Amino acid sequence: MEKRIIRFGVIGCGLMGKEFASAAARWCHLTDADFEPSIVAVCDADPEAAKWFRERVPSVRRAYADYRELLADPEVEAVYCAVPHNLHEQIYLDIINAGKHLLGEKPFGIDRSANEAILAAIRANPQVVVRSSSEFPFFPGAQQIVRWVNEGRFGRIIEAEAGFWHSSDLDPTKPINWKRRIATNGEYGCMGDLGLHVLHLPLRFGWRPANVRALLSKIVEERPDGKGGTAPCETWDNAILACEMEAADQSFPMVLSTKRIAPGHANTWFIRIQGTEFSAEFTTKNPKQVASLPYEPGGPQAWHVADAPYRSAYGTITGPIFEFGFSDSILQMWAAFCDEIAHRREGMKQPFRCALPEEAAGSHRLFTAALESHRTGGTATVEWEGLA
Ligand SMILES: NC(=O)c1ccc[n+]([C@@H]2O[C@H](COP(=O)([O-])OP(=O)(O)OC[C@H]3O[C@@H](n4cnc5c(N)ncnc54)[C@H](O)[C@@H]3O)[C@@H](O)[C@H]2O)c1
Repeated sequence: MEKRIIRFGVIGCGLMGKEFASAAARWCHLTDADFEPSIVAVCDADPEAAKWFRERVPSVRRAYADYRELLADPEVEAVYCAVPHNLHEQIYLDIINAGKHLLGEKPFGIDRSANEAILAAIRANPQVVVRSSSEFPFFPGAQQIVRWVNEGRFGRIIEAEAGFWHSSDLDPTKPINWKRRIATNGEYGCMGDLGLHVLHLPLRFGWRPANVRALLSKIVEERPDGKGGTAPCETWDNAILACEMEAADQSFPMVLSTKRIAPGHANTWFIRIQGTEFSAEFTTKNPKQVASLPYEPGGPQAWHVADAPYRSAYGTITGPIFEFGFSDSILQMWAAFCDEIAHRREGMKQPFRCALPEEAAGSHRLFTAALESHRTGGTATVEWEGLA
């Protein structure tokens, strides 16, 4: 099979930059991909971070300290950018205006105005494929829920709930990092960090919150600063957003939660949908299982919990009897992004695309309204004007 090699540059060689390198290194896992990423250049402000790539990723030919040099590198045709949120606006604008495809990290700008500047650049450069990272919808159990929604199985939707919960911040001795500071992470706090993961599927289903009532909490107020002292934690730890969803033909309540401090939850992403004809749940807490409850009037109301076979969006060498995990979801997301660069939307091998810039923009609309709701203690309208 002849393969289209997509030459990538990575800006931000931290936690997520390395996840991409690992996914690219095991591309042979995919059975039918006629496209493949090759990381040819990296950039990090910290030379130690770039060193990891130079030592472990043989395709990396150049390491830069300034991302503008990476963008001037003619070999680089696409970029993965995983840097703190305060840097998204300028760096994403420069990547897009340089004509490079971009898989950017959420939230796609530290606030709504930064996000709007990024969206304007995308509209001015329609030849460039720009998508946001969001891997959890690629779990086979989540893909099963996508199929059920697309098939219209639920009947009238009674209620939906989606969330993304972490717990390592329960430990007050965990040192502070950029995610606890407004200057680097933004006013949204945990919503900016975790929220697009939660909204990707609802927005893909066309479920736009019309309004929101937000409860935002700060739980651990200060942390060790790594220099023997302490520093204040400025950002929201947890957010519970009660929304009224307005879809094309129905409206229903939806609760979205993003939590940095949810005891016992290491990386729990979930979605639950209840309907008059069918209900379903998937959580990465039980990554093999999908629960569903079909219902006919007068019939039994019984949950069926089945092991979801390893049936991923892109075929792999792993047989259906085995388990799917976090790094598999990252590989699948990268396959979807590279597929879209290689074949454009019309020619993709499967229909589920990475999170769209309009979906990232939708998350900013909701989080901006959530901040207003928290400030006023009331219900805030979510503005959708100008967003296709
Ligand atoms: N998709 C996911 O599951 C997921 C998980 C964690 C983080 N993220 C997102 O990834 C992004 C980065 O988060 P992370 O956890 O990898 O952070 P990190 O702190 O581990 O890595 C960020 C890297 O960016 C580098 N950097 C800072 N300024 C730079 C500059 N001017 N030029 C080049 N490099 C620079 C830092 O030195 C660091 O190595 C954020 O947008 C975050 O929201 C996504």
